Amino acid sequence: MRNIAVFISGEGTTLGRIIEACDKKEIDVNLALVVSSNEKALGVALAKGEGIDVVCAEDEKTIIEALVNHNIDLIILAGYLKLISEDIINNYSKKIINIHPSLLPKFKGKGMYGINVHKAVIEAKEAESGATIHYVDKEYDNGKIIAQEKVDLEMLETPESLNKKIKTLEKKMLIEFLKKP
Ligand code: GRF
Repeated sequence: MRNIAVFISGEGTTLGRIIEACDKKEIDVNLALVVSSNEKALGVALAKGEGIDVVCAEDEKTIIEALVNHNIDLIILAGYLKLISEDIINNYSKKIINIHPSLLPKFKGKGMYGINVHKAVIEAKEAESGATIHYVDKEYDNGKIIAQEKVDLEMLETPESLNKKIKTLEKKMLIEFLKKP
C-alpha cells in the first residue's frame, strides 16, 4: 500500500476528497501525512480531526524529515502555494504530482492559482478550460502532463461557477489517478 503525503495551503477540499475516498475504500492508499505551509489552513484542522499526522512547515529540512519518517511514496500538491525545493524534487523524482485548474501549459506560473486562473481564462474569452495533473519539477506548473480533461465555458460563465466546475473535475481526475497502481 502506497504511503501518500498531501501538501496544502488552504481550504483542503481536495484533501477532504482523498480522505473520503480512503474511508470508502475507493482507493488503496495510506494517507500518512499532511504538510501545510499555513497552520491556519482549514485543511490542517480537517486532517487533525481525522488523526492524520500534520506538519506545518515551509523549511526543506523539516519537510524532508517528515517525508522520510513517514516512508512517503507519493506526494500530492493540493493547493500548495510554495515552490518545492530542488532537493525534494531530486529525491522524489516522478513521485510528486500537482493538480492545476487549467489546460496547461495555458494559464500557469506564479500567482496563477484558484480563482485567478478562472478570471484569466474568462478575460481571455476562452471557449474551454479544464484541469491538469502533472509531475512537479523546479518551476511552477511545468512538469510532464499525466492527465488533462476539458470543460466548456457557458455563455455567462463566472470565475466562481468555473471554479466550482473545475474543482469537481479535479477531484474526479485525482481519484481516478490514485486508483491506478
Ligand atoms: C485546487 O482546486 C487546485 O486547482 C489547486 O489548488 C486547489 C486546492 O483547493 N491545486 P483546495 O484547497 O483543495 O480546496
